[in-house]
Amino acid sequence: MTANQETRNFFVVGLRDAHALENQALSLIDRQLDRSESYPEVAEMLRQHRGETEQQILRLREILTKLDESHSGMKDVALSFVGNVAALAHTVADDEIIKNSLANFAFENYEVASYRSLLTVAEAGAFAFATSLLSQSLNEEQAMADWIGSNLPALTTKYLSLRSHGMQADR
Ligand SMILES: [Fe+2]
Repeated sequence: MTANQETRNFFVVGLRDAHALENQALSLIDRQLDRSESYPEVAEMLRQHRGETEQQILRLREILTKLDESHSGMKDVALSFVGNVAALAHTVADDEIIKNSLANFAFENYEVASYRSLLTVAEAGAFAFATSLLSQSLNEEQAMADWIGSNLPALTTKYLSLRSHGMQADR
């Protein structure tokens, strides 16, 4: 196999992994949307990011289509890190909102890292058509990761306050 073919294959596998990852992101978000009644600011960001995630999936499909590759037949995300993060976000705990935020922070940063790596492969393989699409998704993931990180102190303070007033704080 030539170096060009190697790069192309690696790119396709990475794109399919990202596609599976984004689908996992949708289910993580959907579950949390119904479970953040006391935190409408979080629900709003999740809703917004759900829309972005749908666009990210379409972008990945567009790139795969241009490469003449399908997005089906992709393997399940058996990546143990992602599985563990997803499991963490499915924990029902009395600090569920906090646990979810920690898991979301890890998940979004994983997505940031994935897109950064994909962009590097796109450049290495001279897949110029893909770079602006991937950059757009990278910027959205970075913005979401930044928001989750910077909102964490306020979220934690609100959680403690609701709890100490005997109000619903878990979600
Ligand atoms: Fe994301």
